[in-house]
Amino acid sequence: DPGDAEKGGYDHFMMKEMVEQPKAMMEALMSRCCENGASFAGLKLNAEMMKKINRIQIVACGTAYHAGMVGKYYFEKFARISVETEAASEYRYKNPIVDENTLLIVISQSGETADTLAAIRLAKERGAWVLAVTNVVGSSIAREADDVIYTNAGPEIAVASTKAYVTQVGCMMLLASFLGNLNGKMKKEDAARICHGLMMTPGLIDKALETQDVIKAFADKNYQISDLFYMGRGVDLYTSMEGSLKLKEISYIHSEAYAAGELKHGPIALIEDGTIVVAVCTQENVFEKMLSNIKEVKARGAHVLAIVQAGHEDIASEVDEVWVIPEMDDDITAIPTIVYLQLLAYYLAVARGCDVDKPKNLAKSVTVE
Ligand code: G6P
Repeated sequence: DPGDAEKGGYDHFMMKEMVEQPKAMMEALMSRCCENGASFAGLKLNAEMMKKINRIQIVACGTAYHAGMVGKYYFEKFARISVETEAASEYRYKNPIVDENTLLIVISQSGETADTLAAIRLAKERGAWVLAVTNVVGSSIAREADDVIYTNAGPEIAVASTKAYVTQVGCMMLLASFLGNLNGKMKKEDAARICHGLMMTPGLIDKALETQDVIKAFADKNYQISDLFYMGRGVDLYTSMEGSLKLKEISYIHSEAYAAGELKHGPIALIEDGTIVVAVCTQENVFEKMLSNIKEVKARGAHVLAIVQAGHEDIASEVDEVWVIPEMDDDITAIPTIVYLQLLAYYLAVARGCDVDKPKNLAKSVTVE
């Protein structure tokens, strides 16, 4: 295969790109992640302009949409700004409320997605300020936006996005703390704490990559499953959604990601003896709540894999399998945790003999509707 050389010795571009994530994160954080908070050189958006902004919208598709959900979570948490995150294909067809006092943030790896581009054009027509977070320099989205933040992940070839996602999430966290600083809502020590936490993420991703054998063994044992459920609370919900998307994209296993407290309103009816439920439990403030949700699905026969931070190993008595991630600041778990779920999707797909880099029906970049 002529493409083999570019895979750098890995079987798939997806694996190569997962392994490149620590470096991609470093590049995304470089010169932006400063000791006392985030800074974006070259960004035109400033405190004066932010004064007239009364609405922030985040619009994207696919994996980038999930980065947008994480973005919303941290814009609200750090900057106390309420944000709407929407899929570009919905935004553009519903006469959105957008005007000259709106900040529209679009996220796109390729910078070429048709729906996202259309959302920019609509918002600009109505006077909004458009800030693009993209990986591709000179892309259509980068050119049409008023402001650009490059994610600097390097070229991404595999259809399933991995390194672009972690850098998008990193940029959203930085941007949230940047805006929190501009509007004075974020405490200096919190801004410093986030930057410190983000600087740890390359090393934490390396730790995740080191657990591949465990993840592969789990996949080799369970690859014949027909359904997989993910559940989480807070930011773990978005990590779950992205993990579920990775799985669908490359392994063709049906899966759902649910807010753990919502399971009892429907999906719990689908849990049978042996159904695997991945419970993402990295957030201390809802840890006990996750435990009760785990008990609910266990009572229906679920086989539960829990992902917890070090210090919570004793969850082993409640579940069937535990993956312990290093102890870290709860506000940065979205970045390292997704790597475990990417690897899970990857090894399940490989075990099923799927074409990981070129899944059926999917394209890397959707430039037509
Ligand atoms: C396609 C890709 C996804 C990607 C989405 C948005 O569906 O297969 O991996 O998340 O488009 O792409 P963008 O380039 O705008 O981030």
